Amino acid sequence: MKVRKAVIPAAGLGTRVLPATKSMPKEMLTIVDKPAIQYIVEEAVNSGITDILIITNRGKGIIEDHFDRSPELEDRLTAAGKADVCEQVASISKLANIFFIRQKETKGLGHAVNCARNFVGNEPFAVLYGDDVIIGDDPACGQLIRAYEEYGKAVVGIKAVPEEAISKYSSLKVSPLKDNVFECTDMVEKPQTKEEVLSLYSILGRCVLTPDIFDILDQTPPGSGGEIQLTDAMRTLARSVGMTGVDFTGKRYDMGDKLGILKATVEIALKNPLLGERFKEYLKEVVAAF
Ligand code: UTP
Repeated sequence: MKVRKAVIPAAGLGTRVLPATKSMPKEMLTIVDKPAIQYIVEEAVNSGITDILIITNRGKGIIEDHFDRSPELEDRLTAAGKADVCEQVASISKLANIFFIRQKETKGLGHAVNCARNFVGNEPFAVLYGDDVIIGDDPACGQLIRAYEEYGKAVVGIKAVPEEAISKYSSLKVSPLKDNVFECTDMVEKPQTKEEVLSLYSILGRCVLTPDIFDILDQTPPGSGGEIQLTDAMRTLARSVGMTGVDFTGKRYDMGDKLGILKATVEIALKNPLLGERFKEYLKEVVAAF
């Protein structure tokens, strides 16, 4: 079955980016001229997704406003002869069929994904973590969808992380299938001992899941950090029927981390056709003066 639905969990508290995220969702933090979540929605759309559910919570209405029409603003821009900017603003609301639901308590990523059960129905679906922006010519979500279509199993986007960092991520048991594609048969969230580390491959930012994940999530008790962990539910899938891991191409930026936000801003600005050259000159001057 074709993957046409995606879920973007964006209901986290963003405590690593405080005080910026006290009233501003981290998913709405700007990278150059767009909020982070718009890059993620565009990646989903460029991967063939037509229907997107964004999981929000109290205080995140600003995300809904961003994907809504803004007739007053559009009229003002048209009257001012700024048709190109007006088109940019209006086109955001036409990217996809975007729906919203609130996660009523912040009980973890697994709990957030479980809020999507009715939206998803009986179809495979993509999950794009709301604070992971991935930039690349071949959209990461689309790479995972192709692996789902080829192998017929749920897929995780994976990357190798440094050994000293693995205790902050998940760790996967993988064996190679071809090129950058692996079979994944076990996983552990935030391994605390060397023995728990299955490999340095970790799930980063994207997956394609099958609807049987919802019954598993219902049965998944709180894990690391007292939260219902999506990884714990995916481990059940990996151990029973197996999953596919794709070491996707593209650069990932962690918008849940202050340094990650700075890296995203600098690198994406350097690639910007209108600003890139001037920004590069400016950066050279600044760095030389430090
Ligand atoms: P994170 O664990 O990075 O988000 O979750 P967080 O809880 O905001 O992080 P801290 O507070 O800085 O440690 C990854 C993704 O899952 C979403 C987040 O919004 C983020 O996009 N999430 C997390 C939810 O939607 N609900 C939750 O209960 C937890």
